[in-house]
Amino acid sequence: MNSLHNPQSETMLQPFKLRTERLLLRQWQPDDFKAFAEMNADPEVMRCFPSRLTRFESDALAKRCQELIAENGWGLWAAEIIGSTEFIGFVGLHGNNSLPFPPCTEVGWRLKRSAWGQGFATEAARACLQFAFETMMLDEVVSFTSVCNRRSQGVMQRLQMLDSGHNFRHPDIPRHHLLSEHVLYKISHERWQHGRNSL
Ligand SMILES: CC(C)(COP(=O)(O)OP(=O)(O)OC[C@H]1O[C@@H](n2cnc3c(N)ncnc32)[C@H](O)[C@@H]1OP(=O)(O)O)[C@@H](O)C(=O)NCCC(=O)NCCS
Repeated sequence: MNSLHNPQSETMLQPFKLRTERLLLRQWQPDDFKAFAEMNADPEVMRCFPSRLTRFESDALAKRCQELIAENGWGLWAAEIIGSTEFIGFVGLHGNNSLPFPPCTEVGWRLKRSAWGQGFATEAARACLQFAFETMMLDEVVSFTSVCNRRSQGVMQRLQMLDSGHNFRHPDIPRHHLLSEHVLYKISHERWQHGRNSL
């Protein structure tokens, strides 16, 4: 799926915004870039990635996220705390077709360290799954991370995603690198719907 009619706008495609109890997921703004670069230079945030990002690399990633949201209306949204307007990282959806399994839509997250341990990633990702299943009408959403990334797997488990058991080597990471092996979690529309109905 490339683009959607956005009911928030009758005349032109405006990026979707998702609102949760504490967070707003929105299009990236110029002010986010500096805070994002600081996150991407933090060794703790980047512990499960092959390397930290330079300012140039970080800006390029933010710009790519911004462009994809502008094109499609959805994507890896910038997350801010409602009320403070503080940028805390990204949470969102990303279409992937360069992995060793069929094209899929991934739910993903990266938050600055001071925003960890407060349930923000899970809260925002729940809104993304709702968007994926109710607005994009997807059958399935996946998530993946390196085997050592327990915090990220914790988010997947809190979302009731299931470990597929099909670990894979990420094609962008050298095969024998410690971070190469990834877990693959999935959630179907049916499972998500069942989880909502049993709340
Ligand atoms: C992955 C990442 C987003 C997870 O962050 P996180 O804070 O562990 O996850 P959540 O936001 O869901 O918060 C859950 C924690 O908040 C706690 N919490 C506190 N208040 C809460 C509340 N009101 N509601 C829910 N949980 C709350 C939970 O008990 C849990 O604590 P625990 O870690 O001690 O079990 C974060 O570690 C990160 O950005 N890492 C670097 C980037 C990265 O690795 N991204 C994934 C790559 S694929």
